[in-house]
Amino acid sequence: MIMFMRIDRLLCEMNIGTRKEVKELIKKGQISIDGAVIHKPDLHVDEKNVKVTCQGKEYVYRPYVYYMLNKPSGVITATADKHDKTVLDLMKDQLEDLTGGSGAGIPLQDIFPVGRLDKDTVGLLLLTNDGDLAHNLLSPKKHVSKTYFVRTDQPLTDDGIRCLEEGVLIGEGEKTRPARVAWQGGNECRITITEGKYHQIKRMFHAVGTTVIYLKRLSMGSLVLDEELLEGQIRELTKKEVMDLCSGI
Ligand code: URA
Repeated sequence: MIMFMRIDRLLCEMNIGTRKEVKELIKKGQISIDGAVIHKPDLHVDEKNVKVTCQGKEYVYRPYVYYMLNKPSGVITATADKHDKTVLDLMKDQLEDLTGGSGAGIPLQDIFPVGRLDKDTVGLLLLTNDGDLAHNLLSPKKHVSKTYFVRTDQPLTDDGIRCLEEGVLIGEGEKTRPARVAWQGGNECRITITEGKYHQIKRMFHAVGTTVIYLKRLSMGSLVLDEELLEGQIRELTKKEVMDLCSGI
């Protein structure tokens, strides 16, 4: 079934302007649909198959968008907050870069972070408006793997590593699911878990007598943090990354 959407709503969803601003653009004849200037904000269009031109610049509507953020410390995983900078604020800051200069075309209001990293955790965070993908990645039934780099206040013992791998009690009744730990020397390791409980890594390491002093997420499912991305930077996922992520769950 073809779904039609009001053109003023579509332009808002594409972040071209507020409802008021896009109505004004339409009134001034600055919007074209498939090459023809339009004058009515209540015109209905097939949003998946329409070429929008605004002030001479072409935009393509993409119902789903996917971004990778290398989350820095000090930023919270939320869409809005009164006190702290959020991951969505970082996205707004980089809108111009992400859209090749226009600042429009991304349905910003619908984008949310998939899962949560603590304020002091850095690394891979997926931002999207694809609710189904997010639901699948976060579903406790799917056991999507997540790999973290961890630095602790003291070296892990062999016994500590074995406990982490077999599962530890973190105050939730049941032990954590089996994990994989790769010791990296000194106080550093990589750990792969298949759950996403609140403060899970910090609580697991606490359960074996250590404190996490640095935590970085390296991967989620098939998606691997692009090490070229500086902390705070965002880039769009490649088509292959999106396909692998969607087909891997
Ligand atoms: N586990 C934690 O303890 N914190 C995070 O941010 C992510 C996983």
